[in-house]
Amino acid sequence: MTKTKIPKAVRDLLIQTARDAAGQAYCPYSNYPVGAAVLVEDGQVYSGCNVENVSYGLTMCAERVAVFKAASHGCRAFAALAVVGGSGAKPASPCGACRQVLAEFAVAETPVFIAPLKKGGRVTETTLGALLPMAFGASD
Ligand code: THU
Repeated sequence: MTKTKIPKAVRDLLIQTARDAAGQAYCPYSNYPVGAAVLVEDGQVYSGCNVENVSYGLTMCAERVAVFKAASHGCRAFAALAVVGGSGAKPASPCGACRQVLAEFAVAETPVFIAPLKKGGRVTETTLGALLPMAFGASD
């Protein structure tokens, strides 16, 4: 799990990939599309979108779709995550469940980029550790 700084071009590519994924969101109940993209240590990128269900509780967030896609391809070390959703005033922040799932394959220093759905909005750059302090982990 890398701690190296993500170059701006890579960050922008990750956000664009998440934005493209949001275009595939299946969200007829909330009408709230979200896209996510995981950069894995070998440079591959896995994306995901939210997939809702008429039995609302079965809805799956974009971040977990991306994380599970990466993990199911054997990728177990993530370098960064981008999440795209919501408006410029309030972009989508990863939910608690997604933060814990991401923590399985990332470290506290792993960068998380949060951006609005619409291109051109401000990107918030944070870390998994800031989003999930005192995380429950394998050492507990
Ligand atoms: N959603 C995500 O995909 N990721 C999050 O971190 C927050 C919420 C989705 C779930 C649901 O389809 C829609 O956003 C509204 O909650």
